[in-house]
Amino acid sequence: MRIPGPEHQEDGGLSAVMAAGGLHRYQLRLHETYGPVVRFQLPGADTAVSVADPVLLEATAHIDKRPEELFAFLDPLCEAGNLQVLPADEHTPWRRLLLSVLAGRPSHERHFARFAELTQELADRWAARPEGEPVELQTELTALSLRMICGFALGGAETDTDRVVASFEEVLTEHLGRLYQVPRDDPRSAERAEEALAYLRATVDRVVAAHRPGGRTDRSDLIGALVEAGESPARIRDTVMVTLLAAHHTTGVAVSWTLHLLGRHPGAAERVAAELDEVLGERPTPDYADLRRLTYLDMVLKESMRLFPPGPYGARETTEDLDLGGYEIPAGTTVFYPFWAVHLNPEYWPEPERFDPGRFTPEEEAMRPRLAYIPFGIGPRSCEGAALATVEAQLVLAVLLGRLRFRPAPGHEVTPVERFVLWARDGIRMTVRPRSRCVPPGRGKPGAV
Ligand code: HEM
Repeated sequence: MRIPGPEHQEDGGLSAVMAAGGLHRYQLRLHETYGPVVRFQLPGADTAVSVADPVLLEATAHIDKRPEELFAFLDPLCEAGNLQVLPADEHTPWRRLLLSVLAGRPSHERHFARFAELTQELADRWAARPEGEPVELQTELTALSLRMICGFALGGAETDTDRVVASFEEVLTEHLGRLYQVPRDDPRSAERAEEALAYLRATVDRVVAAHRPGGRTDRSDLIGALVEAGESPARIRDTVMVTLLAAHHTTGVAVSWTLHLLGRHPGAAERVAAELDEVLGERPTPDYADLRRLTYLDMVLKESMRLFPPGPYGARETTEDLDLGGYEIPAGTTVFYPFWAVHLNPEYWPEPERFDPGRFTPEEEAMRPRLAYIPFGIGPRSCEGAALATVEAQLVLAVLLGRLRFRPAPGHEVTPVERFVLWARDGIRMTVRPRSRCVPPGRGKPGAV
């Protein structure tokens, strides 16, 4: 059976993608037109098969290979082999190690207080702004996420966080600029990015050198875990770079899109605020243990990442022939994961464009196929930072929404574009005002029910 899809184009499909406004929107259009399995020309990969049905996706969930050419743009950031496309036998132990640090409760608890402090500083700054002067959420919140993950990955004490953050921004702006062919006015930009990359790598080396053999004290120390596992210095430097890269834009936009949606749904925003007052009382920040009691906030975050998945797509390469609902997919095919189209598939999400956190009650979740909601990807190459990202996002939202009221800036239009993550083209501008708490008597003490 031939997989449906658009006619072959001489330009490799580029003009069709451009006409749709980017690959993220092109996917939505393709699946609307041709159904859940579509064959299309993917610029940079010849032909790909895109799958937007969560049940059919199960047949691909074990695949442990990404197509190399699609991720080649990350080659310059890695010295010991591009981590996105490591062969499975190298990737599996690396992933296990990363998960042992990133997914573990000890590491979340260990860094929680510092994360809360950084968020408080931002909330203080926003609370002090003249009334009516909007803030640009996306830039400020990705910067906050970068500071958090720098502290997490490098440890706070010996590193100059400001310089690390600025250097990373320099490297990223240069490399993403090349990927999206954004012209840079500064003739020295490439040279400066090289210098910044060298500084970042030297910083990681200093942290590695300070590590005493057997000196790792807990499971929150990423570099310590990599040293003790015998990873090479180059692979450790690469891992830190990729962690910073994977962690900060994604988490920053997840929080920005959530605040954007709450600004347009004041009823949901009120309900989040009431839950925060109930659980936190007068306390400005939650404790780690409070997060699991913020159930409505969690539903709102999930619904926001359904409507605006920070990473809107992924890809795999089949290593054997595959039967995909009657379609034969030969080994070596690029399988495209259109996370956004999966999240908007009307068969599993009635009125898919409507914001409704009620879709994420435990009962509703239990009724849907496992892969209907996949903001962190699928299978052995899915996001190792999912649990940490969730803690970060919940904490930031709890602090900001407990203290401030967000409203859309009048006249500002928010347009999602694909810039490595799902980014708002002209930013997300909102006005903020302090809000007063409304605390029921006896509520909001740590551990109170
Ligand atoms: C809301 C925040 C985040 C979202 C939505 C997100 C989403 C994703 C997605 C969609 C992928 C690709 C998965 C696939 O191909 O199936 C990915 C990969 C990855 N993410 Fe995240 N991510 C987030 C935060 C983080 C954080 C905080 C970290 C680290 C601290 C992290 C580390 C990684 C790494 C290392 C990979 C590469 C996975 C591999 O190749 O094994 N991410 N993420």
